[in-house]
Amino acid sequence: MTALHATGATLVLAIETSCDETAASVVAGGREVRSSVVSSQVDLHARFGGVVPEIAGRAHLERIVPVVTEALEQAGIDLPGGNGVDGGGGEGAPAGIRAVAATVGPGLAGALLVGVSFAKSLALCWDVPFVGVNHLEGHLYASLLEEPDLPLPATVLLVSGGHTLLVAMEGPGSYEVLGGTVDDAAGEAFDKVARYLGLGYPGGPGIERAAASGDPAAIALPRPMLAEGLDLSFSGLKTAVVQHVTKHPEVATPDVAASFQQAAVDVLVHKTLRAAERRGARSVCLAGGVAANGPLRAQLGAACRDRGLACFLPSREMCTDNAAMIGAAAWFRLAADGPTPLSAGADASLRFPARR
Ligand code: KG4
Ligand code: ZN
Repeated sequence: MTALHATGATLVLAIETSCDETAASVVAGGREVRSSVVSSQVDLHARFGGVVPEIAGRAHLERIVPVVTEALEQAGIDLPGGNGVDGGGGEGAPAGIRAVAATVGPGLAGALLVGVSFAKSLALCWDVPFVGVNHLEGHLYASLLEEPDLPLPATVLLVSGGHTLLVAMEGPGSYEVLGGTVDDAAGEAFDKVARYLGLGYPGGPGIERAAASGDPAAIALPRPMLAEGLDLSFSGLKTAVVQHVTKHPEVATPDVAASFQQAAVDVLVHKTLRAAERRGARSVCLAGGVAANGPLRAQLGAACRDRGLACFLPSREMCTDNAAMIGAAAWFRLAADGPTPLSAGADASLRFPARR
């Protein structure tokens, strides 16, 4: 950490463009969020029922300059020479900026490239290090940003549109994957079931809204792999929903949504608690877009209370994709590994970082 503080500069400008949110943030010392700007493209993709990679890449290109400029302005950072981030250059970094970070994967290749190229260009112009951040590692920092005194070790359930992982976190940079999905991600299952039921995109919020007036016990759905280890499976659950609705077309959509949501939440809560118990975790956290789900938050919170485990549920803004979590992860990555070479590219299928 000494090398990081040697310059006195503690601010990281972080950029996130891995999927359909263009985001930028300024984070001080890996802990304090000075600004966090997120421009969601959800409206652009909704009519296609999912993210269209070409549209995402183009929208990131259009939005990156205004989003980064706003993040710098909100953090009270004056740009050298009064130029925006799209003008001038070569005048050194704005005061306090120690590094420029970007998500390098996993995600959509074209989308990632926009943020990575932009961050590298700024790092080069400002003569500061570039730091490439793994998006999944970034999600883990959401809890640490909002709860710096999180009791460790923690068990983190990371549930997003593309990933479902149970991770043991000893501290910044020290994690181990305990389990994951063997087929669909949890968010993917919400999205696919929502699409089948005509509940729109993204599917999670649509399912949650419809489920609010449904009966979670209306349909007996499977709890896949409940008794088996720490891996999870969602594709059989999705198929069971389709089979039930095909056989019983008269069934009320809110009842289907509520029954599906309850089956998914049961499995997620059960596996998370099993992981926490096995690892002797002192706390449990949620991360990723599905962590915005109300019943998941309520039922995981209640189950942790029953067992005397601390449970931390990040705000909904911090659960979904944002650049503050990338800025926090970058600070610790820079301390541990140093700068990322500018020759390193984006990696659409980057895996979760191995145990250190
Ligand atoms: O982390 P995220 O914003 O983007 C990815 O990295 O994937 O997660 C998006 C996922 C989508 O699948 C979306 O349907 C799901 O999170 N999601 C929810 C809710 N809000 C978003 N799933 C269940 N309930 C919600 N309220
Ligand atoms: Zn994400």
